Amino acid sequence: MTVNVAIDGPAGAGKSTVAKAVAAKLGYIYVDTGALYRAVGLYALNNGIPTDSAELVGDCLKDITVELKFSELGQQVYLNGENVSSLIRTPEASMAASNVSAIPAVRAFLFDLQRNIAKENNCIMDGRDIGTVVLPDAQVKIFLTASPETRAKRRYDELIAKGAEVDYQDVLADLIQRDYNDSHREAAPLRPADDGVIFDNGDYDFDASVAKVIEIIEEKIK
Ligand code: DC
Repeated sequence: MTVNVAIDGPAGAGKSTVAKAVAAKLGYIYVDTGALYRAVGLYALNNGIPTDSAELVGDCLKDITVELKFSELGQQVYLNGENVSSLIRTPEASMAASNVSAIPAVRAFLFDLQRNIAKENNCIMDGRDIGTVVLPDAQVKIFLTASPETRAKRRYDELIAKGAEVDYQDVLADLIQRDYNDSHREAAPLRPADDGVIFDNGDYDFDASVAKVIEIIEEKIK
């Protein structure tokens, strides 16, 4: 049987960087499920389909193939055969992903792909509904979080380091809006699994967060 670790939590909690480092240390594959929603969002954007229309986005799913491939480069996401791993990282694709992820047909469309990867590989899967919906039987479920102010400060520092001109209050307001959207949508809202561990890493730096997540995993699977 494979070992499956679900890591869910709000934007900016450091899920992807922490999960990636933990996966590398344990020799598991790291699966970023947000990339799947981003690929569907990108398809809609590129084809002039309004990303908030459940009907039109639902209709276009028959024209889409999304695949994940894993190599030394980590996870690569393919949309209709094209590697879109970089193209999905724009602010437009983030917003499109957020919109399409609220559509139940999109969630259903991406469900088997996620399940099959977990069935075949020891993996750390990061998302919003992994412990609650996608892998309810995962041996380890972690809800990684921190206060909105801490998460906004991290995101702000990242953006400033990249040379972006941003205002902390805008970053905080965006994040609070995304938290609200993700946790209030009807389809698979963001929430901790009943049998999950909530880890608030507000007082932890990166290395300490990685060490703590490994400790939680080892405790659960020993
Ligand atoms: O983790 P991310 O920022 O790349 O995710 C992009 C969007 O997809 C985000 O708005 C939430 C959504 N998402 C989701 O609904 N369920 C997941 N398992 C992963 C992401």
